[in-house]
Amino acid sequence: MPASIEKQVEKLREQLRYHSYQYYVLDDPDIPDAEFDRLYKQLLVLEEKHPDLITVDSPTQRVGSTPLTAFNQIQHQMPMLSLDNVFNEEDLQAFNQRIQDRLKISDEIEYTAEPKLDGLAISLRYEDGVLIYAATRGDGATGENVTQNIRTMQSVPLRLLGNNFPQVLEVRGEVFMPKTGFEKLNRLARQNDEKEFANPRNAAAGSLRQLDPEVTAKRPLSLYCYSTGVVEGGSLADTHYEILQQLKGFGLPVCNEIKCLHGVKACLAYYQDISDRRDELPYDIDGIVYKVNAIELQQRMGFVARAPRWAIAHKFPAQEEISRIIEVDFQVGRTGAITPVARLEPVFVGGVTVSNATLHNMDEIRRKDVRVGDRVIVRRAGDVIPEVARVVPGSRKKSLPEIQMLTSCPVCQSAIEQIEGEAIARCTGGLYCQAQRAEAIKHFASRKAMDIDGLGDKLVEQLVDEDLIHTPADLYQLSIEALASLERMAKKSATNLVNALESSKHPALSRFIYALGIREVGETTAMNLANEFKTLSAIQKSEFEQLLEVQDIGPIVAQHIVNFFQQPHNLDVIEQLLSAGIEVQDVKQLAADKRLDSNFFGKTVVITGTLPIMSRDEAKDKLLAVGAKVTGSVSAKTDYLLAGDKAGSKLTKAEKLGVQVIDEATMLTLLNK
Ligand code: IVH
Repeated sequence: MPASIEKQVEKLREQLRYHSYQYYVLDDPDIPDAEFDRLYKQLLVLEEKHPDLITVDSPTQRVGSTPLTAFNQIQHQMPMLSLDNVFNEEDLQAFNQRIQDRLKISDEIEYTAEPKLDGLAISLRYEDGVLIYAATRGDGATGENVTQNIRTMQSVPLRLLGNNFPQVLEVRGEVFMPKTGFEKLNRLARQNDEKEFANPRNAAAGSLRQLDPEVTAKRPLSLYCYSTGVVEGGSLADTHYEILQQLKGFGLPVCNEIKCLHGVKACLAYYQDISDRRDELPYDIDGIVYKVNAIELQQRMGFVARAPRWAIAHKFPAQEEISRIIEVDFQVGRTGAITPVARLEPVFVGGVTVSNATLHNMDEIRRKDVRVGDRVIVRRAGDVIPEVARVVPGSRKKSLPEIQMLTSCPVCQSAIEQIEGEAIARCTGGLYCQAQRAEAIKHFASRKAMDIDGLGDKLVEQLVDEDLIHTPADLYQLSIEALASLERMAKKSATNLVNALESSKHPALSRFIYALGIREVGETTAMNLANEFKTLSAIQKSEFEQLLEVQDIGPIVAQHIVNFFQQPHNLDVIEQLLSAGIEVQDVKQLAADKRLDSNFFGKTVVITGTLPIMSRDEAKDKLLAVGAKVTGSVSAKTDYLLAGDKAGSKLTKAEKLGVQVIDEATMLTLLNK
């Protein structure tokens, strides 16, 4: 075989190792993934042609072995230690004091502070720079040989970079599953009706304990190294921090949050900073580890039992605790969603006392099989709402009744709807329900609905809080005096608002329907309903089957519409609106034939730029009324682009695709033809 092929193979391997290092250790990839894949393929092809050139440390040799029947044991030449814990400042001060006393040092001690990763400990043994084996911690003296699985992790180098490493180097670190990888894995499990992992730690442990490395290879595992074991035939730096930098230089991943600090005060500040950012970190941590930085001082301190005297874990408050469910109540959210909430025996979790926790919805209650009286695990992670995570297995001693959903809203007594295939149950008293009224009124007043100028979200909140309005109909009873008496409301704005309310009294049928805020009835559906039924009363009386006939309306939307108009409270509010002087503009009977004749019937139109007279919404209303479809982006299926001033990329695209471009005047002419 020509020496040049051997050289080429070695060069490709070096390149791949270097780029993996850039990617996994420095988090700074310098070539696109596709280029990496190309180099990898090249190497694969050469190795296939020349199998005798394959070495165990080749980047292609990560998943090669066949499944095991059991893991072998490996005795650690140097034991794998654990850490003592502290939970507060006082105990941390005591830890620091013990060190100062023992070492007879009165100056502040230099520590490294590092996140305590929530995964599992691993020991990697490299000889002459090649990964020989990887073992779990086990009982600290003997662990399991998980080399096959560890080799599948892209971030673990099969060969160390450079040549300055000790002949034998044991590296210790934590294998963990990043949060996003964990969520993806569980999503997949749900889709396949398989059991989900309770947390990233269990998922990481489960993935490493696979007998078939092909399975592990598909799991998103990562590694951060945090110390060394046996070191022979060479030496490392004399501080912990510098050793970690050396490991990094050998191509081993090290967490980039690790810092060198002086004294307890700085440690506490670090603890606070990391706690504050805990939710944003891409991996789970359960505390901070402080280690005396100087190796010489570490050696003088020594060990007690199975933990070093020179290191301590400062743990975060537990995020899961056990409590008991006393009762289940139902809360109505601002959009009508009904949420079951567990009332609990108070429990200290995640740093606060929790006595209420969400049960999310009925599907979750059934899935977790939660009942009143159960002992449950309560979880509060960061700023997230506390939740009932699961029932304590085997804790239910007698049979307990299942939790039942209410049939009517606890706030307004309207019926509760639970549409098939949807997890969330909702109150149907959208216009009337106290819990929902602010949202309902904001929507009612919004630009695409009744378009009431000067009635913004803040003002609606204010009016609702002051108890001045309960339903949208109350808006029309507001007097200038009542409005002007509100904080930050001048007489002039009050007058303007009353005028705006007055001029909103003749809405097109479609706008009025949209303004009612029926679930899932957006502008287009409202327009389709208006065109189909022509009058408000016809829509109110429409039946499920009839609704299914309408363009774009499926069974879920149809059910929402039927449910909405079945609620007497909603009908009352509509009645009040009409008595307040609202005159809904029916769609003219004539329109049907006119629509069919229209140049725009069934055509797809995109609107862009600023039109000279009409707003884009007005133009859209006109087009929809004659049966056009108005969409947001230009494609080959677009029939017309209605372009105004400052039309940008849509115009360019339309011209490229040969779509007919028209201006406002042309549209009006075509509409009137
Ligand atoms: S040092 C000699 N550093 O915590 C010191 N451990 O409770 C040995 N852990 O078994 C451990 N992050 O699995 C150290 N930055 C870190 C760590 C860490 C997580 C785990 C490790 C160890 C356990 C001890």
